Amino acid sequence: MRDLSEQCGILTGATSGVGRALARLLAERGARLVISGRRESRLIDLASEYPGLLIPLPGDITNSRFQEELVEKAKEAFGGIDLVIAAAGVGAVGPFSESSLETMRSVFEIDFFAPVDLVYKSLPHLKNGLSPAVVLIGSILGVHPLPLHGGYAAAKAALHGFANAVRPELASLGIDVQVAILGPTESEFWDNLIAGERASWSQGRPLSAETTAAAIIATMERGGDAVTPGWRAKAYVFLSRFFPSLIDLFVRWKRRLPRQL
Ligand SMILES: NC(=O)c1ccc[n+]([C@@H]2O[C@H](COP(=O)([O-])OP(=O)(O)OC[C@H]3O[C@@H](n4cnc5c(N)ncnc54)[C@H](OP(=O)(O)O)[C@@H]3O)[C@@H](O)[C@H]2O)c1
Repeated sequence: MRDLSEQCGILTGATSGVGRALARLLAERGARLVISGRRESRLIDLASEYPGLLIPLPGDITNSRFQEELVEKAKEAFGGIDLVIAAAGVGAVGPFSESSLETMRSVFEIDFFAPVDLVYKSLPHLKNGLSPAVVLIGSILGVHPLPLHGGYAAAKAALHGFANAVRPELASLGIDVQVAILGPTESEFWDNLIAGERASWSQGRPLSAETTAAAIIATMERGGDAVTPGWRAKAYVFLSRFFPSLIDLFVRWKRRLPRQL
């Protein structure tokens, strides 16, 4: 059982949605975190709710130098790093034929390379951490993709693959690697898409960011390779494993599309 009250580390994506809910719940448990995101005033407001526990450091997570600053700040403030929680992420929606490689690269930079880079840069400190853990935020679309979400689904699938590949390697260093496989969640995700807009057929009933964060934290405390918050996301993952064509049929029906696109 991991005692979060004794832990410290880095949390990205703390300015809204799941990351902000994680920051609050972790701070309420006594965890000390350097929190990041680009919107500085939001970070400062959040940190002021938990003085001494949350330290704001605004910046762009795709900037490698900023990643170094995050690691340095955590080391300087806490003397080490036990937790790296990568909640920053963006989406992009639209037909592949109308999308650009630039958009796909941006999605991969934020959703895949940024968390991988942060974990890499934190490793020397995680190795010496107290019950160290890496928490990556994935998506049900990384388990089974949906049309119009090619870049995003591919980036999340890559993140899941990365987590599964390095988990045994990092376990030998005593570091846990956990993946949260999220379904629709209340946040600013759909307002902040870097391309396109949400398709009406893809709008499921979202889980609150707080419920999602609580499920992630329960898994951090209890241990486990993955958490899939909410029964809808669990059902999607179950279907994707045993009846994947049912998901595809359902999507075709929702979009009123013929069998051949
Ligand atoms: N909401 C959903 O339905 C859903 C479903 C499946 C998976 N997810 C995943 O859940 C995670 C959290 O997303 P959310 O739903 O909470 O969305 P959100 O409310 O839009 O939060 C995204 C966070 O990422 C940060 N961010 C984005 N680009 C950044 C950049 N270049 N540099 C630094 N920070 C950046 C944002 O901060 P700034 O804008 O201030 O920089 C914000 O704090 C993401 O990985 C997302 O893919 C969400």
